Amino acid sequence: MREIARYTITSALPYANGPVHIGHLAGVYIPADIYARYLRQNGEEVLFIGGSDEHGVPITIKARNENTIPQAIVDRYHEMIKKSFEELGISFDIYSRTSNPTHHKTAADFFTKLYDEGKLIEKTSAQYYDVEANQFLADRYITGMCPFCNNEKAYGDQCEACGTSLSATDLINPVSALSGNMPVMKETKHWYLPLDQYENWLREWILQGHKEWKPNVYGQCKSWIEQGLQPRAVTRDLDWGVKVPLEEAEGKVLYVWFDAPIGYISATKEWAEAHHDDWEKWWKDPNSELVHFIGKDNIVFHCIIFPTMLKAEGSYILPSNVPANEFLNLENDKISTSRNWAVWLHEYLVDFEDKQDVLRYTLTSIAPETKDADFTWADFQSKNNNELLAIFGNFVNRTIVLTHKYFCGIIPTPNAFTEEEKAMLSEIATFPEKMGTLIENYHFREAQSELMNLARIGNKYLTDTEPWKKFEEDPEAVKTILYLSLQICASLSVLCKPFLPFTSDKLQKMLHLNQSQWKNGGTMSLLKTGNRIEAPEYLFEKIDDDTIKTQVDKLQASKNANLLATATVEPAKEDVAYDDFKKMDIRICKVLEAEKIAKTKKLLKLKVDTGIDKREIVSGIAEYYEPENLIGKEVLMLINLEAKEIKGTVSHGMILMAANSNGELSIIQPAKEVKPGSVVN
Ligand code: 2FM
Ligand code: ZN
Repeated sequence: MREIARYTITSALPYANGPVHIGHLAGVYIPADIYARYLRQNGEEVLFIGGSDEHGVPITIKARNENTIPQAIVDRYHEMIKKSFEELGISFDIYSRTSNPTHHKTAADFFTKLYDEGKLIEKTSAQYYDVEANQFLADRYITGMCPFCNNEKAYGDQCEACGTSLSATDLINPVSALSGNMPVMKETKHWYLPLDQYENWLREWILQGHKEWKPNVYGQCKSWIEQGLQPRAVTRDLDWGVKVPLEEAEGKVLYVWFDAPIGYISATKEWAEAHHDDWEKWWKDPNSELVHFIGKDNIVFHCIIFPTMLKAEGSYILPSNVPANEFLNLENDKISTSRNWAVWLHEYLVDFEDKQDVLRYTLTSIAPETKDADFTWADFQSKNNNELLAIFGNFVNRTIVLTHKYFCGIIPTPNAFTEEEKAMLSEIATFPEKMGTLIENYHFREAQSELMNLARIGNKYLTDTEPWKKFEEDPEAVKTILYLSLQICASLSVLCKPFLPFTSDKLQKMLHLNQSQWKNGGTMSLLKTGNRIEAPEYLFEKIDDDTIKTQVDKLQASKNANLLATATVEPAKEDVAYDDFKKMDIRICKVLEAEKIAKTKKLLKLKVDTGIDKREIVSGIAEYYEPENLIGKEVLMLINLEAKEIKGTVSHGMILMAANSNGELSIIQPAKEVKPGSVVN
């Protein structure tokens, strides 16, 4: 077995163009923090890295929309995100940012090394260019008509009406967002990471070597590798980002997904410099364990692209594990920044002062470790009132109150333990290892539920032994009961620390304890008899219905605002000549076969009977219909839309669909049964 010398723990760098919400916390930052804190409590050497991802096109667009410069946007959000993480107790050793000079140099040097060693390939391709603005256009800067749903305001990377991922060249009548003109195609040179050359190595390294990775992570990697990897461009024509360090690359920057993960390395350098440490040991010593905490949308970048960059560079270690989580929903709906459907961390911290641990606890208890999960305010209230308060808080409070009542706050000396007590102590002794194993295997949810089981043991012990009834006739028995209860409180204060760090501190202050070594969390000798404890203070308080209603109302207000914003009916288009209308051949067609198109979220390949022929078309409705539910359905289709190749299928025609105010698509069916091929006019 390899001896692990230290842990390099990274958490995805959030984009500095918006605040952090509960989805980010449940998926990435809270699990990473639990892991880092636990390892530290075990005496391990840990470097826990975070930082803001400050490059990329969306930041430049936000700056443009707000009439400011990208640096102003990232300055604003970097500070906000950093502060809210600190307030939630995310124990980063460093929270850095990718716009700082150390990072620019580190990323540029990384590129130079790959370039100098011939590890990158150069390719020239034609891309959209705005002649008036004198610049190439990122896909997001181009709008036009979506070829799938006719939305005229689709972006070059995605149509927000039907949700289909697009390339700018898919758009009909493309327009530049910079000048409003039609862009032209112009040749441009870029540098690519030849992922195809690393395919066999990736197959070996992940598919053979890392079968222990979480099934969701392993499965995604397998599917990417098995579909064949292509060279990936690592540079872009843009003026915001790390400049490509080549003379011939004027006006080009590194692609944000090339520089962002290097941000973990730059942050390590920055931390090492401030702490007079050697950054290289965290990234180059084979005995260092590198673990990336991310959400599922980042899997390909952290399991395939970044490791390939590290492998190509040659002197770095590779991640030992990438425990990516699935997504968190909110009140049964996808979290959405643009629809303001989120619980924002900075707002939570104001609305729920001193209740950081309640959020940490709730989010860990529903962490989307194996599948998407759902946060509801009702569940948040119940986790606080029925678990934290009724079990953990109640046990600690009763123990401390009784110790003050009967022994003036002095830890009593116990008498001999009963057989039941001995059995309880042996059970408690198993908790550090049991919980530790779960944490080491990234089962944070289960580990936390074991913590609550420990509190349940204490609570039940007090309820069963009823010291308040015994004190008069048997004060010696009460000494033992409270001594043991206090020791259980001390254990809880150690074992809850990774999950509930604020509660742990509060509890240790009450107990006059300064101890966090994990392995001592199950021993019954943390507190010394004769020592004083402080007066009781509540660890948790009841959250009432009104408080919850305020939050639910706030969400409802977002929903209403969105409905209002989207309820406006599209303005009427210009009149068309009857002859033009007659050119469109719209028919009732029958769906014969339907299947998802691999590597896409939104596309289905359908085989339809047009009455004239049987043909294939591609439709962007995978999010709204399961393939099997479409088979046999009669749909409305424009059958003479010119054929176009989409993801390897020649699609001839378009199914006509209606979109509701949320952009959800619905097929349109005839009210009576009509034969395939029937003309619609
Ligand atoms: O998905 C995101 O929010 C990215 N900003 C994550 C980057 S992780 C790393 F590579 F920096
Ligand atoms: Zn569309």
